[in-house]
Amino acid sequence: MKVVTRLSDLRGMIGDYRRDSRSIGFVPTMGALHEGHLSLVRISRKHAQRCVVSIFVNPTQFGPQEDFGAYPRTPERDFELLAGEGVDVLLMPDAAEVYPEGWAIQVDPGPVGKVFEGAIRPGHFAGVLTVVAKLFHMVQPDVAVFGQKDAQQLFLIRRMVADLNFPVQIVEGDTVREADGLALSSRNAYLSPVQRAKATVLFRALCAGKEAVESTAHSLRRVQEAMAQVTAAEPDFSLDYATAVSDASFSEEDPLPKPARLIIAGCLGPVRLMDNLRID
Ligand code: PAF
Repeated sequence: MKVVTRLSDLRGMIGDYRRDSRSIGFVPTMGALHEGHLSLVRISRKHAQRCVVSIFVNPTQFGPQEDFGAYPRTPERDFELLAGEGVDVLLMPDAAEVYPEGWAIQVDPGPVGKVFEGAIRPGHFAGVLTVVAKLFHMVQPDVAVFGQKDAQQLFLIRRMVADLNFPVQIVEGDTVREADGLALSSRNAYLSPVQRAKATVLFRALCAGKEAVESTAHSLRRVQEAMAQVTAAEPDFSLDYATAVSDASFSEEDPLPKPARLIIAGCLGPVRLMDNLRID
């Protein structure tokens, strides 16, 4: 596995792959890798002949009071995991090359970028889409793989690729869960043992929501109530939202459309967690 930090070196490698007609799969990450990321690498390797993974903790998607400084960074372990998965190139770009002096242009995520995560984290999706667009230009992938765990992010990346005519196929990977249902996330590392035990509240609420969908003729209010009942029973969990959205528009509709997605986010102490479940 080659580790590349300079964009000029990356350009040379991508040029070689293109000349040899090798298809390129890409998995962008912020590192602190877990089994969820590795499952995306395996998907990429099924879809394309060469696999590029990036690790870049992107400053522009963090708000001023958020955890950019504290975000877990485990480069040696990440390197070993990726080498073990047969990744061809690990891109770890320098922030000064990604955001050169005087940079000013950003991708506007549109209306879906302002609701749910976008309402709680203003500017977050502009940061995500801007860095993903830049990484796509750098890596020039045929296929890029993203996890369903960040459902709103995935929706907006698909929207950007369609609206701005990026020549890349977006493939999604299922959320990988612990045995008790907790979705894998790099931020789970922040949870104390007590918070970790309580963190199943998100998956329990999603399951209650799913049960409500199956038994209440798809009423949005009843689904929201079923999820809120579970979260209310966990006083240390401060709920940001628990609702259902259309998978096609990422907006709330009543009665629930098909397919729909249950989405939930909130904080256990200082740790912000989110999850979602597709309802077919
Ligand atoms: O999902 C993530 O890890 C990040 O938001 C991404 C897509 C790598 C952009 O920084």
